Amino acid sequence: MRRSRPAVPQPGRYNSGMKTIVILISGRGSNMQAIVEAGLPVAAVIADRADAAGLAWAKSYGIATEVIEHGDFVVREDFDAALARAIDRHAPDLVVLAGFMRILTPEFVRRYQGRLLNIHPSLLPAFPGLHTHRRALEEGVKVHGCSVHFVTPELDHGPIVIQAAVPVRPGDTEEVLAARVLRQEHRIYPLALRWFFADRLVIDNGVVRVSGDDTRQSLFPEE
Ligand code: GRF
Repeated sequence: MRRSRPAVPQPGRYNSGMKTIVILISGRGSNMQAIVEAGLPVAAVIADRADAAGLAWAKSYGIATEVIEHGDFVVREDFDAALARAIDRHAPDLVVLAGFMRILTPEFVRRYQGRLLNIHPSLLPAFPGLHTHRRALEEGVKVHGCSVHFVTPELDHGPIVIQAAVPVRPGDTEEVLAARVLRQEHRIYPLALRWFFADRLVIDNGVVRVSGDDTRQSLFPEE
């Protein structure tokens, strides 16, 4: 089945002069950690809750951190505006959502159009939204995985940069499957960001291609 094409952020090639990343997290931050440990240029980590576990790790790594508590704002627009101000203070070239659990307003998404990436724990367009591993098990799918995609106003629907697939095995629990997928998240997110910074991502009619060598956008790890 051919899916309808989402609104595409700034078609074309991205500028290789880009230098820094701001990462947004809500919790544990293992993807953030994978990105930092891959040597990517992270200027700051911003969380929407003070108890996000990843903040302590980022601080211990000497990375600037900030909290914009979503609970301090009555309306989503005001939270997003405060978040954008915090992000823009670091003037990043790329904003990376890494387990950031807030739905963003279309205005926020437009502001960072073409330089806002997310990782989602399913093979999109299957299982957008929450509880992807539980839903995959309930549906009885035999292959599951994760996707890095550009963010568009429609939740979990932007142009897909890279996906990794994993087998779903008889007897898998939600936790076991989540861990298997997470290992692949930690591989594909740094890879996607490297492509972005190397000016290699080209979007054509909602489809992302990678220019140059080593352009494999689908990983099928052996386990
Ligand atoms: C990951 O599974 C990510 O795909 C999803 O939320 C989870 C965050 O994990 N969006 P972590 O905070 O990166 O460890």
